[in-house]
Amino acid sequence: MRLNDKVAIITGAGSGFGEAMAVMFAKEGAKVVVSDINGAGAARVAKAITDAGGVAISSECDVTSAEDIAAMTKQCLDNFQKISILVNNAGMPQRNGSMFDVDVDTFQKIFDVNVKSIFLTTKAVIPHMLESGGSVVNIASTAALSPRPGLTWYNASKGAVVTMSKSMAVELAPKQVRVNALCPVFAGTPMAVEFMGGVDTPEIRQKFVATIPLGRENTPRDLAHAALWLASDDASFITGVALEVDGGRCV
Ligand SMILES: NC(=O)c1ccc[n+]([C@@H]2O[C@H](COP(=O)([O-])OP(=O)(O)OC[C@H]3O[C@@H](n4cnc5c(N)ncnc54)[C@H](O)[C@@H]3O)[C@@H](O)[C@H]2O)c1
Repeated sequence: MRLNDKVAIITGAGSGFGEAMAVMFAKEGAKVVVSDINGAGAARVAKAITDAGGVAISSECDVTSAEDIAAMTKQCLDNFQKISILVNNAGMPQRNGSMFDVDVDTFQKIFDVNVKSIFLTTKAVIPHMLESGGSVVNIASTAALSPRPGLTWYNASKGAVVTMSKSMAVELAPKQVRVNALCPVFAGTPMAVEFMGGVDTPEIRQKFVATIPLGRENTPRDLAHAALWLASDDASFITGVALEVDGGRCV
């Protein structure tokens, strides 16, 4: 098992990519804090893990709240005594449309959930990794590397995630804390309907798939496999990368 003796916090783990990462990390031996603003979703995923013989707790946490993140960190340490892996996965989409139609509150929310959250978890969680090292995986997007029209402010927030990841990586390297980003392409998770402009049809999905050389959508398992590798000691010499999980979309 590749994550034996590791303790992982995964934000936004009550659905989609985060859920798949939580389940896979637990199968690989990690003790997992399944964190989400949707407490019922987090509890459902944590129960599925424990029912399958894994170790997990759920934590209702809004990643834009320093107080919630402090409570989640304490909950992790009280239960598992350490933190080895942090996955900053919680995210907020932009509804596909003109950049002029996004109001300032929505812009602020996108940056709070996608960017400020990493600032907040860095300050609360990473100090607990400085003695023994750790791995941080930030979920960015192909939106950061090859932006599509209609998602400008979301694209910009994910660009910030990539730059933060690289800068954090060089600053934390002397402490053996590795920081990497993953850049997934379109996957049919609940937030995908926003990327499609609020309507989910096979025709609109096909427009996204048509730009992916391997000819299919991303899946949560695709991303979980990549996150598992980055989080594990198999990637012990990998830091500061922004790895596409995109079927060749960004080539
Ligand atoms: N689905 C895609 O096509 C796609 C592509 C590239 C990147 N991403 C990124 O992947 C990550 C996961 O998204 P997903 O596709 O699994 O979507 P999802 O909608 O299935 O999951 C997102 C989760 O984040 C949680 N969340 C939202 N706001 C939160 C907050 N303030 N605090 C805590 N949790 C919060 C939601 O409750 C939800 O469980 C996001 O960062 C997203 O931007 C998604």
